[in-house]
Amino acid sequence: MVMYLNRNAVMVQTLDSGEPYRRQLGKSVKTRASLTVEKIWVFIIYIAGMRMSGFGLLWIGRALVLLQLFNGVLGWGKEGHYAICKMAEGYLTEDALAAVKELLPDYAEGDLANVCSWPDEIRNNFHWRWTSPLHYVDTPDFKCNYEYCRDCHDSGGHKDRCVTGAINNYTMQLKSFYQDSVSEAKYNLTEALLFLSHFIGDVHQPLHVGFTGDEGGNTITVRWFRRKTNLHHVWDNMIIESALKTFYGSDIAVMIKAIQRNFTVCFSFFLLYGDRDTTITHIRETLPTKKKHQPDGWSNDKSSWESCKYNQTVCPDPYASESISLACKFAYRNATPGTTLGDDYFLSRLPIVEKRLAQGGIRLAATLNRIFTPQIKIADA
Ligand SMILES: *[C@@H]1O[C@H](CO)[C@@H](O)[C@H](O)[C@H]1NC(C)=O
Ligand SMILES: *[C@@H]1O[C@H](CO)[C@@H](O)[C@H](O)[C@H]1NC(C)=O
Ligand SMILES: *[C@@H]1O[C@H](CO)[C@@H](O)[C@H](O)[C@H]1NC(C)=O
Ligand SMILES: *[C@@H]1O[C@H](CO)[C@@H](O)[C@H](O)[C@H]1NC(C)=O
Repeated sequence: MVMYLNRNAVMVQTLDSGEPYRRQLGKSVKTRASLTVEKIWVFIIYIAGMRMSGFGLLWIGRALVLLQLFNGVLGWGKEGHYAICKMAEGYLTEDALAAVKELLPDYAEGDLANVCSWPDEIRNNFHWRWTSPLHYVDTPDFKCNYEYCRDCHDSGGHKDRCVTGAINNYTMQLKSFYQDSVSEAKYNLTEALLFLSHFIGDVHQPLHVGFTGDEGGNTITVRWFRRKTNLHHVWDNMIIESALKTFYGSDIAVMIKAIQRNFTVCFSFFLLYGDRDTTITHIRETLPTKKKHQPDGWSNDKSSWESCKYNQTVCPDPYASESISLACKFAYRNATPGTTLGDDYFLSRLPIVEKRLAQGGIRLAATLNRIFTPQIKIADA
């Protein structure tokens, strides 16, 4: 059974086991449409339940698992966005942290990471449906590069309606209030902060910059181990969920720590100097000899540490270019329709996912710092 909701929606599937979905029951915001669907299901299940026993109950269980999928998990899954925002929070300057806390809605309880999935929760809501194309950008089929002018539009051809356009838009809204000393904000800056934080995450998910024809992997049906799903969902959720279970004791905090260990030293200095070369020189000069040539981690990975060129506050275009390149090299490769993806794919792609989460977190922090603490001029590089 396959049911297609919208571009990034989870495909409803026959499941071998519904484990990872169970946690999401009741968590996501239910749209009116999905509530109606749910009522119908509950009714069917109720009637069926009266006529069944034993074996029938198993099917009721499966139907309930299916139900949860109607409320779809979108973008990087909840875990991915949580990880990116959690990492970002650790690198905010004092000013930026104060500004963020002031903008956060009460239910965030002072933690940006708690509300980073908000744009996914509302996007199927009637009033917010227009934001759906802002979560991604598609390139023409089989083009492994990205160009803003060519690619940043929605399916109706409206310019700037894509993830990179949205990142620019919400950055400008925040910046014009916090830097250009405009006395009254024209837009809701709480929404601007949540959208910006979410979309900087999304643009780092390689298949959020995928091909138009397959909707960023959404229409490529594959198996993830024994489970039927689609390639986009594998990159949003499955790789992270399998990693959590296999390596991190199902604890997202443990996973975040492991990822952070790979860049913490370098990034602290980066924040201090705001410039890659100064940072690397400084690390070479100050670290004890045995740590000078870090054997692993991303400390020497140039692109990871780039700040925005030309004093820009935000620079989503290179992030999108990296994503489509990774999509071609790793996501689409060996994942044609009908393929079963197993250990080989999982273990070779997981480092890519972890690095993208790290980059998303670092770049979100750097962007928020540039917006909220202009006097530090971290942007200059
Ligand atoms: C920019 O953000 C505002 C507020 O959400 C929205 O009304 C507008 O359509 C957005 N523009 C683009 C190009 O995304
Ligand atoms: C800003 O947006 C948030 C989230 O949509 C909403 O809860 C809040 O009431 C809005 N604030 C204003 C001043 O409109
Ligand atoms: C740390 O970096 C290394 C080298 O790039 C990579 O192989 C490894 O998967 C990374 N570890 C984590 C937890 O991200
Ligand atoms: C960046 O800003 C600084 C100070 O505002 C200025 O001196 C410098 O020329 C700018 N660099 C570029 C490339 O625009």
